[in-house]
Amino acid sequence: MHKTSLLIILYILFAAPANLLAEVQKGEMVYKRACGTCHGIGVAGAPKIGDKASWTVINEKGLDILLHSVVNGLNGMPPKGLCMNCSEEEIKQAIEYILVKSGLNLE
Ligand code: HEC
Repeated sequence: MHKTSLLIILYILFAAPANLLAEVQKGEMVYKRACGTCHGIGVAGAPKIGDKASWTVINEKGLDILLHSVVNGLNGMPPKGLCMNCSEEEIKQAIEYILVKSGLNLE
């Protein structure tokens, strides 16, 4: 196979998902610092990380709405999920981390 086409294939295979992977890795830190307290064991009715059925339904709202819920708070969830110094970008990454860890395919 020509070397260039091999590189292109490698790029498609690895570089594109790598973006999401990087986001998810950053999200993991925010999750562990702030969100895991509730979403790890289901405090105050929080959907548990890894509960694919629940997160599949939640994910249908779309990432923008989920981000809005976390930033403003939703019922038992305080605004920003208690990560007061998190940027919206970091909160989005934490949401993506939860979704990926719950077995959802975000590609
Ligand atoms: C104090 C506990 C608590 C913390 C901390 C917390 N959550 Fe939540 N979260 C909840 C609860 C409770 C719900 C369910 C709200 C409902 O649907 O009534 C929820 C729901 C959600 C939802 C679904 C929102 C929707 O529109 O259905 C997402 C996404 C989410 N949390 C992400 C996060 C992220 C990201 C963090 C960390 C930055 C976080 N949560 C921190 C308690 C918490």
